[in-house]
Amino acid sequence: MTKRVVLLGPPGSGKGTQAVGLAQALGVPAISTGAIFRDNLARHTPLGEKAEAYMASGHLVPDEITNAMVADRLSQPDAANGFILDGYPRTLEQVTELDALLQTRGIELDLAVELTLDHGRVVERLLHRAEIEGRADDTEPVIRERLAVYRKATEPIAAVYADRGKLASVDGHGAVEDVAGRLRNACLPPSD
Ligand code: AP5
Ligand code: MG
Repeated sequence: MTKRVVLLGPPGSGKGTQAVGLAQALGVPAISTGAIFRDNLARHTPLGEKAEAYMASGHLVPDEITNAMVADRLSQPDAANGFILDGYPRTLEQVTELDALLQTRGIELDLAVELTLDHGRVVERLLHRAEIEGRADDTEPVIRERLAVYRKATEPIAAVYADRGKLASVDGHGAVEDVAGRLRNACLPPSD
């Protein structure tokens, strides 16, 4: 059964929203690198301070910082049986690092799922969230930068997983429940 999943997709495509439901369905934790950084930021930890300027401008936190954080999180007992990674890996270097991390444990990723969403919808959803949650990086210029970073650094990694026969693409448009259904179909065999 699919237990080790990576969620790819542009900002606002629904990674965080969908990771939670999928994690429950699979009985594994949802791990969001963005959420871990925001939690550290709110608690003013050294990690949060290191990440702050990158996040505020919509740029990626350097790989060495992010990789160390993920290695630490995946070593916790609740991730022993699987995980949904939301927002990691995001660079080719992070893909290599995750491969190495899993290899040392003799395990492999089951699936990478790319949630797709038109750029117009991305901006619409994130500006709407800005009104509700006030997330610091949900301003129009920073959203545009996050999208540009996604295209340049993250989009190419889908091809890596496709070459391995481990990429599924899921349409992120429509209601949350409809996207969740498509995601479950991609991750779970019909009998589950
Ligand atoms: P991160 O927190 O990962 O932000 P992101 O990729 O920009 O994505 P979002 O969280 O904005 O969107 P999402 O796809 O999770 O969608 P969501 O479900 O929230 O990263 C933030 C920053 O941290 C990065 O810019 C970087 O600086 C740093 N960082 C994180 N990971 C890193 C890494 N690996 N390496 C380096 N740096 C890293 O949905 C968005 C909104 O739409 C919500 O309001 C939601 O309620 C709504 N919504 C969801 N689904 C639907 C639907 N079907 N219909 C209508 N509305 C919907
Ligand atoms: Mg998110």
